Amino acid sequence: MIELRNVTYKYEDHPVFQGISFRVEKGQKVGIVGESGCGKSTLLKLIAGLYTPASGEIIVAGKSAAAEITKKVTVVMQSPMLLPMSIRENITMGHDYPEEWIDMVIDAANIRSWIDTLDKGLDTYLGDRADELSGGQAQRIAIARAICKNAEILLLDEPTSALDGENAACVLEALNRYAADKTVIHVTHRPEHLSGYDRIFSMKAGKLSDETAGVIIYES
Ligand SMILES: Nc1ncnc2c1ncn2[C@@H]1O[C@H](COP(=O)(O)OP(=O)(O)O)[C@@H](O)[C@H]1O
Ligand SMILES: [Mg+2]
Repeated sequence: MIELRNVTYKYEDHPVFQGISFRVEKGQKVGIVGESGCGKSTLLKLIAGLYTPASGEIIVAGKSAAAEITKKVTVVMQSPMLLPMSIRENITMGHDYPEEWIDMVIDAANIRSWIDTLDKGLDTYLGDRADELSGGQAQRIAIARAICKNAEILLLDEPTSALDGENAACVLEALNRYAADKTVIHVTHRPEHLSGYDRIFSMKAGKLSDETAGVIIYES
């Protein structure tokens, strides 16, 4: 369950949310569409515990401390960040996982055929080579990282924006299968990627509506 209670957030002197409240139940799939700059990424970062609200409360999976929330949540950010480590470490973030789990993850993120072309495979160091990756490869590593963590809440910020249609469809299908019993919030420019979702939110600067229920959730 994700709950925002009267949350206010601003960048320096630019207010993004002034007292937003809503609730997403455990297991719900929520899509968010909306024009650029209206605050979609900011909202996901608040829920992920990466930003601290100026006032109000955010409760995620029963937790309100950011350090606890980050354990419950996994995020695929709009611009994936790769670290100067091997592909494997970029996926596992240095944690130990069974080899079968990592195998499942690289299939789900559709990176096996690419990894198989690399001499050192999963242990290829990404340090100086991160720039040589395509946006799509970087994005798929970020998706693999998110799936690998296996958190109960999955936050997706335009997770397939750098993938072509066929790859995007393939990765989305795997993400949906993996996330069947998870709570998902998925920001996208492509509403067709949200078929089967429980709720579709539409966002504008200062306004959030639940299109499915036909109600305004927040208006500043
Ligand atoms: N780091 C930042 N510093 C200052 N302003 C920011 C920052 N990030 C986003 N903003 C501003 O906050 C608003 C919402 O941004 P964002 O959440 O990225 O929107 P979206 O993801 O919907 O495109 C925009 O007006 C944007 O310019
Ligand atoms: Mg954004």
